[in-house]
Amino acid sequence: MKKIVTLAGDGIGPEIMSAGLEVLEVVAQKVGFEYETQAKAFGGAGIDAEGHPLPQDTLEAAKSADAILLAAIGSPQYDNAPVRPEQGLLAIRKELNLFANIRPVRIFDALKHLSPLKPERIEGVDFVVVRELTGGIYFGEHTLNEASARDVNDYSADEIRRILRKAFDIARGRGKKVTSIDKQNVLATSKLWRKVAEEVATEYPDVTLEHQLVDSAAMIMITNPARFDVVVTENLFGDILSDESSVLPGTLGVMPSASHSENGPSLYEPIHGSAPDIAGQGIANPISMILSVAMMLRESFGLEEAAQLIETAVDKTLTQGVLTRDLGGQADTAEMTAAIIANL
Ligand code: NAD
Ligand code: IPM
Ligand code: MN
Repeated sequence: MKKIVTLAGDGIGPEIMSAGLEVLEVVAQKVGFEYETQAKAFGGAGIDAEGHPLPQDTLEAAKSADAILLAAIGSPQYDNAPVRPEQGLLAIRKELNLFANIRPVRIFDALKHLSPLKPERIEGVDFVVVRELTGGIYFGEHTLNEASARDVNDYSADEIRRILRKAFDIARGRGKKVTSIDKQNVLATSKLWRKVAEEVATEYPDVTLEHQLVDSAAMIMITNPARFDVVVTENLFGDILSDESSVLPGTLGVMPSASHSENGPSLYEPIHGSAPDIAGQGIANPISMILSVAMMLRESFGLEEAAQLIETAVDKTLTQGVLTRDLGGQADTAEMTAAIIANL
């Protein structure tokens, strides 16, 4: 019996978590996967319930879980609060050592016409953003004074090496090309990043390494995204570029992710946030959460068939023209979820 800790969080989080768990239940029955879920307070919901965005019992449950599903956190009500929901997100990533955040980018055939990019530009787009998740400027010293402020960007060679190895390992199983993105024309951390990337590349003679400065990489992601296979980059650049990549399929609402440590439980979450602008209306696109469930089944439980069942059902549903509002349709969260389950 596998234990899955669920962190629904804030905003649209609870709405899409329910959708993901409904799909999980149906697939589990089909493939005979036995699991139990344990819902825990997290983010703004953690602050409200226990005064902290990552309550101690939530952290302990997560540490002893076989996998963790997280929906989304954050709410404007905490914008000026002393403790913010986002701190819980950074804390769980750090506490569980979830250094490797994998954000796949693929185009759904049925959504091609919805992409703001010309069809010839998105043809053949299929890449993975490998984002370093427990280092860099997110976790350096932050000082805010009245008339000055500073944020420190720190990386050790070891931190860079392990995320580069992760990227090369993933590239080995697909297009055998790694694009390492940095700002080595300015930043010391990027100079070290590039040096370590070169060293790691010698361990993988079958994989090609190319370097790209982050500013021009942002441009290429829109003008020639089919050029990428595996993109690897530091925490902040990965945050920005992965949201940019959601323009290719047409919405953040279809973008899942997996975060891995060296050997502890992995965490699966959409790349988007709590979408306060549409929260509570039942209209969020649940596909990002549902595909995160598929990633969990594949990567934490080795259930390739179950993952594919979900991915195929999502494809089929989109092909049938069931589209949420972010995709230009009228389906609500419940209708989209029901259609996916019907296709299962
Ligand atoms: P966001 O990702 O929440 O929303 C950006 C836009 O995308 C909004 O217009 C939203 O409606 C839309 N969107 C996002 N997910 C959608 C979905 N599933 N279906 C349909 N539309 C969707 O980003 P934001 O508005 O900049 O941030 C809102 C809050 O979320 C902030 O507090 C932020 O810190 C937090 N956040 C949390 C996470 C996380 O939990 N991992 C990630 C990003 C942002
Ligand atoms: C994400 C989010 C988080 C990040 C925020 C909410 C702290 O944007 O998961 O991409 O910046 O990592
Ligand atoms: Mn982000």
